[in-house]
Amino acid sequence: MTLTVDFTLDGAATSITVTEAAITLLDILRQQLGKTGTRAGCRNGDCGACTVLIDGEAYKSCLVPAWRVTGTTVETIQGLAPNGEPLHPVQQAFRNEDGFQCGFCLAGSVLCLVSLLRTNPDPTDQSIVDSLVGNLCRCTGYQQIMTAARAATDP
Ligand code: FES
Ligand code: FES
Repeated sequence: MTLTVDFTLDGAATSITVTEAAITLLDILRQQLGKTGTRAGCRNGDCGACTVLIDGEAYKSCLVPAWRVTGTTVETIQGLAPNGEPLHPVQQAFRNEDGFQCGFCLAGSVLCLVSLLRTNPDPTDQSIVDSLVGNLCRCTGYQQIMTAARAATDP
């Protein structure tokens, strides 16, 4: 198959050619589009490191066939602060509250919270936990992540 896929990526009109139905959005983002801030972890839907927003909702990009994003708006961690500064308020909260160490999981957690806060600016702790389910962190510990998430809701 050869399919042209047009979509918006981090605010820019983007066109890719997909030649295999099974190629994932994760691989296209990292290998063709320079979005290496989208991490490749388990590649199996278990860790959340590859999370992106598609039309504002969090998806694990390792589970999304690239052709499925036709006509959508995709946001990666690199779109939140394209020039590095200023950081998005959720990113800043994670920095302020030591919400990460190695940072491998960070993009997934941050994007899930960004998605949550757009629709629910004053979430309960349970809503925060629900939004982060599926994002595994092997180093920081979830208490700091929760602290950062709470700080992001009350910057
Ligand atoms: S790399 Fe996608 S969930 Fe782990
Ligand atoms: S900060 Fe290292 S995996 Fe979360």
